[in-house]
Amino acid sequence: METKISEIADGIYRLSTYVPDIAPPAGFTFNQFLVLGDEPLMFHTGLRKMFALNRDALARIIPPERLRWITFGHFEADECGAMNEWLAAAPQATPAHGATGCMVSLNDFADRPSRVLNDGETIDLGGGKRVRFIDTPHTPHGWDAGVLYEEQTGTLLCGDLFTQLGDDRALTEGDVVGPAIVAEDVFKYSSLAPGMGPAIRNLARLAPRTLALMHGPSFVGDGAAALRALADDYDRRVSGEARAFLAQAA
Ligand SMILES: [Fe+2]
Ligand SMILES: [Fe+2]
Repeated sequence: METKISEIADGIYRLSTYVPDIAPPAGFTFNQFLVLGDEPLMFHTGLRKMFALNRDALARIIPPERLRWITFGHFEADECGAMNEWLAAAPQATPAHGATGCMVSLNDFADRPSRVLNDGETIDLGGGKRVRFIDTPHTPHGWDAGVLYEEQTGTLLCGDLFTQLGDDRALTEGDVVGPAIVAEDVFKYSSLAPGMGPAIRNLARLAPRTLALMHGPSFVGDGAAALRALADDYDRRVSGEARAFLAQAA
């Protein structure tokens, strides 16, 4: 396996590893994002077993010991499995996550104390970069789920939202909603709940110019329209499930 590096927005790098054995024949990508600044931030640590790949890739951009912030969308192996390896490699780094995630997981799991991010709180990375944490409980899954929005570049670090199969280009202006609908049909990875559509529609209000997908290419274009279309699809799924449940109960 190899980890490819692409700059998907000014000072934001995608470290992408393609695994052909997951969901063959399309395969599946795992992407980490490095946001440069005086205090460089990583979004997703990657799987513990991919640590060496990701560390060596990141080292082609900055010395790993310069990392200041370790962040991710929700507590799961691909999102944060290598956290303690990164904390060992980067003595200045601090994990940062929402209050729920710190309470239920990081206070025990992380080898160093975490910074608790409240909904809407920002971290100023210096060099004009600021990331805002937005709480999205159970969207697409995980009680502690949240996303980060980098304000200077208008980049939404989406985590598992818009997950798709395959190894498309690093950057696309094409459709990211259709492939996400396909992947949801295959994996059924989301916690279908009435709040999911509104939570995604709330992200559309940011009008992001780039959507950085954890599993898929980064999208450049009308992020608000893509988010609204994704929210509509989840509304459709949730109401379909509710109708099926009511029909069964009647
Ligand atoms: Fe996940
Ligand atoms: Fe993921």
